[in-house]
Amino acid sequence: STILVLHGPNLNMLGSREPEVYGYETLADIDDRLRSVAAEHGHHLLHLQSNAEYELIERVHEARAEGVDFIIINPAAFTHTSVALRDAMLAAGIPFIEVHLSNVHAREPFRHHSYFSDIAEGVICGLGSQGYDLALKAALTRIHR
Ligand code: DQA
Repeated sequence: STILVLHGPNLNMLGSREPEVYGYETLADIDDRLRSVAAEHGHHLLHLQSNAEYELIERVHEARAEGVDFIIINPAAFTHTSVALRDAMLAAGIPFIEVHLSNVHAREPFRHHSYFSDIAEGVICGLGSQGYDLALKAALTRIHR
């Protein structure tokens, strides 16, 4: 099966971006780890980070055409703003888990609302990069079902 990991805006800055909030690992560290875990289980893991809403939307459209089985997405700031990316997820109809490194509920009120949570299979936040590992673990069990 194929799993797509999508990272929204500013996540390319991981490791140096507010490390007390987001941790010291880089996005490449996280993606490499996820890719090897997926491979150990015989799955193919693709990933994309983009600062551009349209690129994420177009990647989701392609995912549907490619037959991607599961998406793990950290929409970053688009979590709180993007009806368009939400609509793309609905259009693709691919099950997904929403991940946030930080506990968005312990932060500013504008981070408390997500355009994705009500349509996600599940939501993980506040556990740092481990959230991606847990999301992958859940995705693997769901793909096997
Ligand atoms: C984030 C939380 C968002 O509120 C923020 O805009 C981000 C990252 C997280 O992973 O904690 O860019 O999605």
